[in-house]
Amino acid sequence: MEKVALVTGAGRGIGAAAARELAARGYHVIVNYRRDEAAAKAVVDAIEEAGGTAEPVRADVREPRQVEDLIAACRRLDVLVCNANIQPPFAPLATMTWEDFAGKVMGELAAVFHVSKLALALMRERRQGRIVYVSSVSAEAVRPGAVAHGTAKAALEAFARQVAGEAGAYGITVNIVAPGGVRTDASAGLRTPEAEAALGRRSVLGRMLEPEDVAAVIAAVAAGGFHAVTGTRVAVDAGHGVIIGR
Ligand SMILES: NC(=O)c1ccc[n+]([C@@H]2O[C@H](COP(=O)([O-])OP(=O)(O)OC[C@H]3O[C@@H](n4cnc5c(N)ncnc54)[C@H](OP(=O)(O)O)[C@@H]3O)[C@@H](O)[C@H]2O)c1
Repeated sequence: MEKVALVTGAGRGIGAAAARELAARGYHVIVNYRRDEAAAKAVVDAIEEAGGTAEPVRADVREPRQVEDLIAACRRLDVLVCNANIQPPFAPLATMTWEDFAGKVMGELAAVFHVSKLALALMRERRQGRIVYVSSVSAEAVRPGAVAHGTAKAALEAFARQVAGEAGAYGITVNIVAPGGVRTDASAGLRTPEAEAALGRRSVLGRMLEPEDVAAVIAAVAAGGFHAVTGTRVAVDAGHGVIIGR
């Protein structure tokens, strides 16, 4: 039976690029999406045109019943990429409502809790598997308006390390990929020319990231030579983290 990879939120952006990359590495890819069926089908079409195989599966990964159906569609599972974008409210604490804050933090955790639990059960049967959680540099870095986003991603990373601790006994690895600013729909509202220029100045490579930059690292961690690497975090930030004072 062919190897199967499930990528949540794979209709657009980083998830779509990761789906294409994993398909190119020989995985049958489950292209999960929430609403945009046409986008998910376009990802599947692109994979098939390139000689790979994939299928779109609709599920809101925050909903346990829908996640049950999503995992049932997988048959076997070698790779899980938890990527679905729970859109954050960007505002300072002074104007943030509890409802918006809690919606992001709880949504982020719900989007990984149910799918991780069921995916791990499936992976444990074969005593192998790799899980990648897509976090953000905002889990550690401080920037204006990111109080909900940063808190949610920091919680996601704590969750991921605990899962790594539980999964290791079954030969399953669990790692975090943490991107900086990526040119996707999710960041479109924040991408003024000034903001892009400032991001570029603060990165060693002098540019924002493309979804393919992140997808290449996700695929390497999920399907490359990272056999004995677990519980770690790889920042994909074009060197953003090494500059102070620009
Ligand atoms: N873009 C950045 O600058 C950046 C930086 C750091 C980290 N990240 C992280 O990277 C991940 C992907 O972000 P992106 O920028 O690629 O997002 P994006 O372009 O907005 O795409 C989001 C994808 O997630 C899906 N999705 C949203 N809610 C979902 C749900 N509840 N269940 C299932 N799928 C859902 C969407 O499906 P539909 O299209 O069907 O709604 C879509 O396919 C996120 O975890 C984000 O936090 C992004």
